Amino acid sequence: MKAVILVGGEGTRLRPLTVKAPKPMLPVVNRPFLELVISYLRRHGIQDVILSMGYRSEVIEEYFGDGQRFGVNLAYVVESSPLGTAGGVKNVEKYIDGTFFVFNGDILTDLDLGAMLQFHRERGACATLALTPVDDPTAYGLVETDPDGRVRRFVEKPRPDQITTNLINAGTYILEPEILEHIPPDTYYMFERGVFPSLLDRGSPLFGYPSDCYWIDIGTPARYIAVHRDVLSGRVEHLRESIPIGTAVTAGAGTRIDPGATINGPVVLGEGVQIEAGARVRGPAVIGDGCRIGPESEVDGAILWRQVRLGARVVLRECVIGNNATVDDDSVISGGAIVSDGCRIGCRNHLDRAVRIWPDASIAPNTISF
Ligand code: GDD
Ligand code: MG
Repeated sequence: MKAVILVGGEGTRLRPLTVKAPKPMLPVVNRPFLELVISYLRRHGIQDVILSMGYRSEVIEEYFGDGQRFGVNLAYVVESSPLGTAGGVKNVEKYIDGTFFVFNGDILTDLDLGAMLQFHRERGACATLALTPVDDPTAYGLVETDPDGRVRRFVEKPRPDQITTNLINAGTYILEPEILEHIPPDTYYMFERGVFPSLLDRGSPLFGYPSDCYWIDIGTPARYIAVHRDVLSGRVEHLRESIPIGTAVTAGAGTRIDPGATINGPVVLGEGVQIEAGARVRGPAVIGDGCRIGPESEVDGAILWRQVRLGARVVLRECVIGNNATVDDDSVISGGAIVSDGCRIGCRNHLDRAVRIWPDASIAPNTISF
């Protein structure tokens, strides 16, 4: 069966991480997120993947090429202006030749696609939506169903007073091709606010397939950090073989760890990483290719992309540091802070409380404290 992955969004809530790269290309444990999604699809026997793209599509196409390296055939369709989730699927119509899957491109899950397909066929559904429970549905699409799974109501981004269930749209659909007839061509149109509510009005067989398997939408900084914790602690079943978990420490070629440094897994170190004497790395943590962790520095629950340079006695806790950023001696970055590509954080700064520093910014020594 074919799969369409929606990767056209601008990743607004993840800015500034998405200023240079689109959301699907953000590294998760040193690999572009979309690569993890594609390997999941391949495990479920999906070989033909169509990417519905917009924002910074060239970065995705350059990395994945024809898909052969990743075991799939990839087709690319790029929107000149955003067409929305449903418009983005209508736009790839020429590739659709039967029942097909649609995936939001920012979801990592262990959902059993075969079981979902069987559910869809048994019920003769025109559309089946995967559902997942969440604590707070207001950031998602709330889906109310009958006991047999038939969808009764779909409310995108419900207000607190509209919450009647904890089940939300998990961003994976199985659709019959007839659905495409209900989507206007070359027009901004959403499944969540247009297609699903209008199918319900017409009484079409729309079903919800609930599952409590692992599920996350990586679309906010807090969840982007959380997905690393989840993957490295082994919560994502299909990644357990390929990514070290538990107390494991893995290091790529050319990585050098001073005997006076301490590392407690789960920690993934890329290639050519240098960890100096007295440094401490505590997992879950990821340190990308070519990073240098200076003497007596501490990395705890942090995510470092490529070529990050830390001076001496730097402390990084629960934060994200972009490519080619430098953090000078005695600075502390914590509390979900984001330092983007190419930044220079001078000595003795303290960044905290989810502060976000845009690419290539320079912060003078002793400028920010909390
Ligand atoms: N091609 C294309 N064109 N793709 C788009 C466009 C567009 O105009 N707009 C968004 N997308 C892609 C995004 O790249 C993302 O992969 C996916 O569609 C969903 O968009 P988000 O912006 O991440 O939506 P959301 O997280 O607020 O809500 C959606 O996902 C929730 C589950 O995570 C909705 O589908 C909710 O109903 C759902 O609960
Ligand atoms: Mg999302």
